[in-house]
Amino acid sequence: MPFDRYNRDISYLRISLTDACNLRCVYCMPEKMTFLPREDLLSDAELHRLIGLFAAVGFRKIRFTGGEPTLRPALVDLVARAARTPGIETIGLTTNGVLLAELAAPLRAAGLRSVNISLDTLDPEKFKKITRWGQLDKVLAGLDAAAQSGLRVKLNAVVSRGTNDHEDVVALARYTVTQPWQVRFIEQMPFGNNATFQNQSIVTEDELRAVLAEAYGPLELVNQGRLDGEARLYRIAGAPGCIGFISPVSKPFCADCTRLRLTAEGVLRLCLLRDNEMDLRPLLRGGADDAMLTERIRAAVLDKPWGHGLEQHVIPTRGMSTIGG
Ligand code: 5AD
Ligand code: SF4
Repeated sequence: MPFDRYNRDISYLRISLTDACNLRCVYCMPEKMTFLPREDLLSDAELHRLIGLFAAVGFRKIRFTGGEPTLRPALVDLVARAARTPGIETIGLTTNGVLLAELAAPLRAAGLRSVNISLDTLDPEKFKKITRWGQLDKVLAGLDAAAQSGLRVKLNAVVSRGTNDHEDVVALARYTVTQPWQVRFIEQMPFGNNATFQNQSIVTEDELRAVLAEAYGPLELVNQGRLDGEARLYRIAGAPGCIGFISPVSKPFCADCTRLRLTAEGVLRLCLLRDNEMDLRPLLRGGADDAMLTERIRAAVLDKPWGHGLEQHVIPTRGMSTIGG
């Protein structure tokens, strides 16, 4: 099993399939964004090879992200191959949901069990404002298709002060009263390209809990507060679903981090919020054998930094979409 030098079990790889996206969320990228040329992205064959090698090293969980991973033509096949890879126990997908209405059933059939859909508001006008290009109906149809296909659903909302910090949070949380879903509220994080970010725009877990308690009564802590991945979970009394808070800024979970990220162009990113990276593509394209690649993967695990440096104002140079959400 791959342990890092801080004794964390690093067994979760988040793989970005493309840096491109069909939306332009204001906190993520500018409207006029340029994306990598196709030949810079890892090919399907390169991805299959790497997934096999990571699994052999002891990685057990994979998540496909982006950019928007549903833009990758071979997504369903990538999921199917990953699901058949010995050692890989869990496959996830993080998507904006725009293309999920058509893709949910084939993805489920390919072996996907759960999907995380990014949805910051249920107000169509506001959705358009936040995503610049998005149509809420498409995402809601995708959400419906995901639930119908038997995928476990998690909703991820990035909360920004003055944009979606009140009614939207209350409305999104209402899903948990009738559905067995997790609705998770994420603190906005600063990235180099994120012009809209301001420290004051972070809305903390404590504030959101107060807003939700006012609407639904006191929230019950789930799992005695043990994190589920990166989320602390609560429940509205009697609800089938859970409300989660992902608070990387106000309550860092670096001590429990289990992940590495692979960018769409084959760079291993050792921490979301630090610039430590290891480029695997030159090895992949330079004829490195499996043993050499495996050695680099193990070295990367050992080089994983302890945690982010947001408090010291260390901010990542890349934007979220070029790293992988
Ligand atoms: N802070 C927090 N989350 C972000 N995302 C994109 N940019 C940021 C940011 N600055 C989220 C998206 C999506 C996931 C891929 O990352 O909303 O849920
Ligand atoms: Fe696309 Fe996600 Fe970035 Fe929005 S946050 S522009 S959906 S990658």
